[in-house]
Order: sequence, then C-alpha cells, then structure tokens
Amino acid sequence: MQSLLDDYSEYLLNFELLLANSTEHQCMKDFIHTTLPDILASIGSGESILNVMGVGTGPGEIDLEILKLLHEMHPDAKVENEVVEPSDVMIKKHKALLSKTPGLEYVNFTFNEMTAVEFEKEWKTRNSEKKMHFISMIEMLYYVEDPEATLSFYRSLLHKDGKVLLILLAGECAWARLTEVFEDQMYKQGTVQNLTTSRLKCFLDSKKIPYKNYKLQSLLDITECFIPGDKKGDRLLDLLTEVIEFRKTASPEQKEKVMKFLQLNSQTVNGRILFDCSAEALLIDA
Ligand SMILES: C[S@@+](CC[C@H](N)C(=O)[O-])C[C@H]1O[C@@H](n2cnc3c(N)ncnc32)[C@H](O)[C@@H]1O
Repeated sequence: MQSLLDDYSEYLLNFELLLANSTEHQCMKDFIHTTLPDILASIGSGESILNVMGVGTGPGEIDLEILKLLHEMHPDAKVENEVVEPSDVMIKKHKALLSKTPGLEYVNFTFNEMTAVEFEKEWKTRNSEKKMHFISMIEMLYYVEDPEATLSFYRSLLHKDGKVLLILLAGECAWARLTEVFEDQMYKQGTVQNLTTSRLKCFLDSKKIPYKNYKLQSLLDITECFIPGDKKGDRLLDLLTEVIEFRKTASPEQKEKVMKFLQLNSQTVNGRILFDCSAEALLIDA
C-alpha cells in the first residue's frame, strides 16, 4: 500500500476533502478568535518586529488567520514569517491565498520548501540569533520521525515570552483510535501517524514544560464510505487511512477491520454518518 504522503497532489486532494466534510477548520478558527487574542497581545509587546514561524502550514488558511489577529494586536509591528512546508502544491496554494488577500504589507513571507527536520538543519547553518515570538505546528507532527525531538528544537527557538501552538488529534477521539487498528505496514516509515496530543502531554509533563490545552471538537461526515463503489467514499477511506486507493489495495482483513471500526464508532445524525475527529491544541511556553 502506498502512503498518501508519497504523492503531494493526492495528499492535497484528500486534505481538501477533509476540510469540505468536517468542522476542522471552523473549530480552529473559533479557537483562534476566542483564546488567542489575549495570548498574542501578551507576546512581543512594544517590539517593532515580530518573528513568526509556521511549520507544515499546508494551504496557509489557518496561519493567515493567526497573522491577521497578531497584526490587530500589534498594528505598528512588522512581522517576519518563516513558512516551512515540504509540499510544492501546498506552497502554491498558500501563495495563491496570499495574492488574493489584501492588506498584508506588514508581513514578509519567506517560504522554505522543506520538511521540519530539513529546516532544522538549515537553521543551524544560518547561525541565526533570531528568536521566535510564535511558532505554529498544526496537524503536522505526525510526519516526523521523532516528534518530541522536533518539538524541542522548535521550542528552543522561542523568545522568552513566545509560544508554540501545537494541534494534533486528541488521544481519545475516534480517528486517533482508528489509527491503532491499523497494521504497522500502513504507516510510512519515518512517521508516527498514530501520534496524538496524549503522547506530547506526557512528554511535556515529564520535562515540566508549562503548557495549556484546549479541546477542539470536530466531526467528519463519512456517510459515503458505506456506499460500495462510491468515489467520494473511496477518497474518504484514503483520507482516514492515509493510504492511496485503500479500498483497492488493502487486504480484505484490513478493509473489514477498518469498516467495522467505522461502523461501531460513528454516530448517525439526520441520516448522515459522523465520525469524531476532534483535535486538541497545546499552547506551549518557552
Ligand atoms: C494535515 S496538513 C495541515 C496543514 C495546515 N497546518 C492546516 O492545519 O490547515 C499537514 C501538513 O504538513 C505537511 N508536512 C508533511 N510532512 C511534513 C514534514 N516532515 N515537515 C513539515 N511539514 C510536513 C504537509 O505537506 C501538509 O501541508
């Protein structure tokens, strides 16, 4: 079976399917507008330049929402924004979004088309003394080999008042539990696709690193997964398993395991079958 991560165009199509059929981005935006204003107001106060970094920004919609809010809180500050994103198609989408968003003169974007770990190496060669006021790592830490080490590196870049915003699937949500059903061979090597905030909270607790956590409730409409031969259902299954053409390439046992899990762990509302894909946000101190 081929991982979705092996094909950035396929990955993007599936990610867009997730956004169109779930409340994932809406609940992140609600979180940004209810919880982040005070936090963003409290960082870099009085500074003329704010340094921001977005790791695994995808099409950039959520990071842009954060940048706009940061600007509202610090209207006189310039923002230097490092974007770290390995997918060329995601970067293209991100740039297209910026080109149709007026009023971004306060921010300078530097795009780094590379993985989080590649950027870590690149940063070390830059010998930069720069400290970051805000770093976002949203739904991306699944795709590194050692999430704790990567988080520790990015956290080490923080300014003394800075924050890392980490968002991942919440440990108890159905999608996180579904990843436990998979056999090891369904994951791409060098990734931790069953990562949840539970593991990162244990790590932060063990190192006595202060953080606050916030639940982001979200549901994914998976109704078409239960319609044999339905094209959207096929794609939803690819999205849920992160395998290209899961229905065609998985063994009958794997398919049965996954379908049974979906059946037993979803709820029906107004004739639609909904699956819990809730996330959790961790706001981590320097
Ligand atoms: C689920 S998407 C999330 C996108 C965005 N943060 C959002 O929430 O809208 C995951 C993103 O991580 C990127 N990614 C994959 N592997 C990565 C890596 N090793 N380092 C950094 N980003 C990675 C993907 O290309 C994709 O854009």
